[in-house]
Amino acid sequence: MSPTLPELDRSATAPLTAQIADHFAAAIEQGQLRAGDRLPPIRELARRCAVTRATVQDAYRQLAERRLVEGTVGRGTVVCAGAVPMASRTAVGNGLPLSPFATAALRRTLEMPGAPTLGAGQRLVANFAELAPDSGRFPVDEWRAAMDAVLLRSGPELLGYGMAANGLPELREAFAARAAVAEPAAPVPEVLVTGGAQQALDLALRAFCAPGDTVVVTDPSYHQMFGLLKAHGLEVAAVPFGRDGLDLDRLQHVLARGGVRLVYLMPTFHNPTGRTLDRAQRERLVEVLAGTEVPVVEDEYQQSLRFRGEPLPTLRSLDPRGLTVTVASASKELFPALRIGWVLGASRVLQPMAAVKRFVDLETSPLLQAALVEFLARGAFDRYLGELRAELARRHAALAGAARESLPAECHVGEADGGYVAWLEMPRAGQADRLTEMASERGVRVVPGRAFDPFDRPSSGVRLSLTRADCDAIRAGVAVLGDCAREIVADPVATPFL
Ligand SMILES: Cc1ncc(COP(=O)(O)O)c(C=O)c1O
Repeated sequence: MSPTLPELDRSATAPLTAQIADHFAAAIEQGQLRAGDRLPPIRELARRCAVTRATVQDAYRQLAERRLVEGTVGRGTVVCAGAVPMASRTAVGNGLPLSPFATAALRRTLEMPGAPTLGAGQRLVANFAELAPDSGRFPVDEWRAAMDAVLLRSGPELLGYGMAANGLPELREAFAARAAVAEPAAPVPEVLVTGGAQQALDLALRAFCAPGDTVVVTDPSYHQMFGLLKAHGLEVAAVPFGRDGLDLDRLQHVLARGGVRLVYLMPTFHNPTGRTLDRAQRERLVEVLAGTEVPVVEDEYQQSLRFRGEPLPTLRSLDPRGLTVTVASASKELFPALRIGWVLGASRVLQPMAAVKRFVDLETSPLLQAALVEFLARGAFDRYLGELRAELARRHAALAGAARESLPAECHVGEADGGYVAWLEMPRAGQADRLTEMASERGVRVVPGRAFDPFDRPSSGVRLSLTRADCDAIRAGVAVLGDCAREIVADPVATPFL
């Protein structure tokens, strides 16, 4: 049977990719498309719906991830045998009744917008999408030496349960000592070691929030937090974080409304914008929070990646209530496969999180924690960080230079003093989606700002991550982005979502 074409609503908040995917999922659910039926060829559908091929490709990829369709050689994209759309699968739990947490997590997994993949045969010019350090730069030999040393010294002990749910004492001491050196005037914090920063965020929600409570996030914010919030049944209150910083009046207003149980911020090298709250804003922020008992999670996921300027005080050190915890991670500073993060704060806040963690995963790998202690003690961590910071400085300088040279005057790229990310803004909301699609067709991958929007609205920004693009790739990639941006600015009518 030949399927009807999707009718796209360009003023809707749902992205075009989701609209196309949902149209065909509904056709399969309602029996208009059956196993073996072909979906329209990508090129043809793109032409008939007046969208880019990357949009259709992405919609078909989403359908494939839902196991509704598959790509076949010679026949294009066809409906799978036994395809049942996820909506009905979750309703009946695929035979299993699901928890609200799992249902929300499944839904978010399917709906999460991402960076479009490149078309078949398309040459990669620059990958600005991945936010995961280039493992090719990591000193694997030094890590292996640290692993060998701890295995030789205390192998048998490290192969069992470490019996320390809040983390290996030596690692906690090392992190506490580093925090004390960084901020000598602040109280020495307690430390909870976690399975990555992501687990720390989950533990904070489990410890302090109940379904229906409100969590304050920045607008935009870290996209993997949204799925967690949904899964925990939490409401989101978004506070704009723009070029002038955090909208503190808005924060005050949201707090005064009541119902807020947690504030989640990234004060330094914010994901996705790369922005940093200056000292005055940090101090004002703490004043705004002063009259409340709301805990704050400051996610310092790239805390040691500053290559310029003086470090700013953590919100934890400024918060006289002792209700702010700092979340840190080894993922961006070493490598994500370590799955080690840590939380610094007062025991009043850390204790409940540690108690929850005990029953969630018993503990974080003692073997890997011990290797990290050794890696730190050998000075390998600081050596590597020094090199990483120098490379980041070069990459940010290349980005700033390329932006000046190649982008039209209507675009803006923020300049960061550290971290991996920068935010490229187009003049109008929605243009970022178009830029993302056009760039992917020309070999440049970026993540559209919509992915970081708490309400999935069209955005004017795209996130540029510099983890995988060296200086040459940055210059080549920004030149392509400049060409795309010029076309979009010259023809705003063609921009979807306006
Ligand atoms: C802002 C932010 N917080 C937390 C995380 C999760 O980090 P981890 O790998 O330590 O779980 C990420 C990962 O990209 C992140 O960007």
